[in-house]
Amino acid sequence: MKGLVLSGGKGTRLRPITFTSAKQLLPIANKPVLFFCLEQLAAAGVTDVGIVVGDTEAEIRGAIGDGGAFGIQATYIRQDVPGGLAHAVKVSESFLKDAPFIMVLGDNLLRDGVTSIVEEFRADPCNCQILLTRVKNPNQFGVAELRDGKVVRLVEKPKEFISDLALVGVYLFDRNIFKAVNAIRPSGRGELEITDAIQWLLTGGYAVRPHLVTGWWKDTGKLEDILEANRMVLDGIEERIVGRIDTGSRVEFKVALEDGVVIENSVVRGPAAIGAGTRIVNSYVGPFTAIAGGCTIANVEVEHSIILEGCTIDGAGSRIIDSLVGRNVVIRKGDGQPRAYHFMLGDYSGITLP
Ligand code: TTP
Repeated sequence: MKGLVLSGGKGTRLRPITFTSAKQLLPIANKPVLFFCLEQLAAAGVTDVGIVVGDTEAEIRGAIGDGGAFGIQATYIRQDVPGGLAHAVKVSESFLKDAPFIMVLGDNLLRDGVTSIVEEFRADPCNCQILLTRVKNPNQFGVAELRDGKVVRLVEKPKEFISDLALVGVYLFDRNIFKAVNAIRPSGRGELEITDAIQWLLTGGYAVRPHLVTGWWKDTGKLEDILEANRMVLDGIEERIVGRIDTGSRVEFKVALEDGVVIENSVVRGPAAIGAGTRIVNSYVGPFTAIAGGCTIANVEVEHSIILEGCTIDGAGSRIIDSLVGRNVVIRKGDGQPRAYHFMLGDYSGITLP
């Protein structure tokens, strides 16, 4: 079985971060989402993996290389336009050929990995297997209607309730999916939708099998979801106390520190992860915070947030919460008059003031 990991896309819901970086490389507990996907495929014995890439190809290639570090062999597949999930399948046909394959969205995180699903498909192949999970807001997902345990219909973001079983971003297919992706037409938003392709299989009498996911699943396509995924992963993190912690500091409850961390006169309360070489001075770092390497966090309180590499946050005033801060951002207290906010923000930035 081959693997297909979708790492292109537009990423409009995560602007401005996605103007400069691939969202699949955004870290969850200081590890890119895409790394989790590739490791889970390798763990399931899926090692021949195509990675669909778009504008951020260079960054993805730089992070994954030949895939050896993750136990896979990576083949990059260029998708010239982000034409939808079914379009990504279409452009991957020459890589996938006749092999059955598992497709995963490179910005989705599945707690329990894909091993049992791959084993089920290997033992009892069908034309398509979809993963479903119960959600409270089915109108925001592609959902499946089941009758007597069989999938009868898929609907993208239904306006009226038909089912609370949302499609998780993992799919298994045999080569009949190529007939489907070649037959369907773009949707109202101009994309070739994977739900339409699977619906095409259903209508044509192909076997589409549902599999209910029990452990949590998170699509990290928008800010609240990234923060939630970060919370879930940090919750299970292993404590690692290294680096230099002075006697005026307290580091308590499941904190993972990387080498070279310096903590002075501060409280770090886990679950939290702090990356290599980051300095925390006169500060409070609260639960569910992941701070990447090379940052300076001084005279500030930060909680339930993700801060990427190389940031300097010094004396920001109010506590920073529920935030995602990109690379090399500087937030500091001004030292002159007038006492006012000074911004230099990229397009589509978002700021909420107290
Ligand atoms: P989405 O999050 O559904 O789409 P998007 O990346 O365009 O983001 P937004 O809706 O915020 O504009 O994509 C799910 C995953 O599939 C993600 O990892 C990107 C990838 N993808 C592709 O590789 N090619 C595509 O054509 C699309 C639409 C998504």
